[in-house]
Amino acid sequence: MGANKITVVGAGHVGATCAQRLAEKNLAREVVLIDVVEGIPQGKGLDMWESAPVEGFDTRLIGSQDYEPAAGSDVFVVTAGVARKPGMSRDDLLATNAKIVRSVSSEIARVAPDSIIIMVSNPLDVMSSVAMDVTGFPRERIIGMAGVLDTARFRSFIALELGVSVEDIQALVLGGHGDTMVPLVRYTSVGGIPLTHFLDDDRIEALVERTRKGGAEIVGYLKTGSAYYAPASAAVQMVESIVRDKNRILPCAAYLQGEYGQEGIFLGVPCKLGTGGLVEIIELELTEEETTALARSAESVRSVLAAVS
Ligand code: LAC
Repeated sequence: MGANKITVVGAGHVGATCAQRLAEKNLAREVVLIDVVEGIPQGKGLDMWESAPVEGFDTRLIGSQDYEPAAGSDVFVVTAGVARKPGMSRDDLLATNAKIVRSVSSEIARVAPDSIIIMVSNPLDVMSSVAMDVTGFPRERIIGMAGVLDTARFRSFIALELGVSVEDIQALVLGGHGDTMVPLVRYTSVGGIPLTHFLDDDRIEALVERTRKGGAEIVGYLKTGSAYYAPASAAVQMVESIVRDKNRILPCAAYLQGEYGQEGIFLGVPCKLGTGGLVEIIELELTEEETTALARSAESVRSVLAAVS
């Protein structure tokens, strides 16, 4: 068993799928699912709990409109907010989601002042800043989910292209969660062999481009919303590393205080996650080209942040 209690805020597709995966992995004694829509978290929570005898997990699932059942949670996964529709960028969600994340954050600080927040609501780099402002939590306890998802997409596309197992593919994607994300091809390997051994530059660039637009590709198909299976998997992997103190190194949006030449914004960088949340930021030497791309990504996060504050 991992944590005592994990709360997922938002019982939409991402939140509900997170709750399901957290329970099926037995990552907490209790998972609380919170949503403003009456009955939805209760219904989904009960339905999931009724799957426990078949799936074989002991995590209790509880749905609620208010935050009292979430008191003392070790970790919150914040998924509340509106999702993208075709033609919208993640930044189009800004005003609505900022308002929602402000109110969610103040409830979290009230009922669980020592908790760790995993921010999933978009634009997550900026929503992480909003949560930090409202809660006053240190950077160790607010981490944005993006890099694990973007990296998973990149790895899944490489596996398809090469006809190899996803298990053997390691990759690293830095920067903001958007069109300016920075996949580090140099750190991408297949069974320990550099990706450049298998694919020429044009093919690699095509996979990088598909990764950048990975979220939009799903929105294009779904039309009424955005991706949720892979985003939920990514958030749960971060939670698992924290509550099982695995100290995994995963790309996450962390609050930078000078690392990578950036200050005062959340940006995707390699992070060690364990007990307490963010244990360490790994600072890599970047090439000039990578540094420029990361700086461009940081600028785009900064301009969205300016619009919200
Ligand atoms: C995506 C959304 C969730 O990348 O940001 O699918």
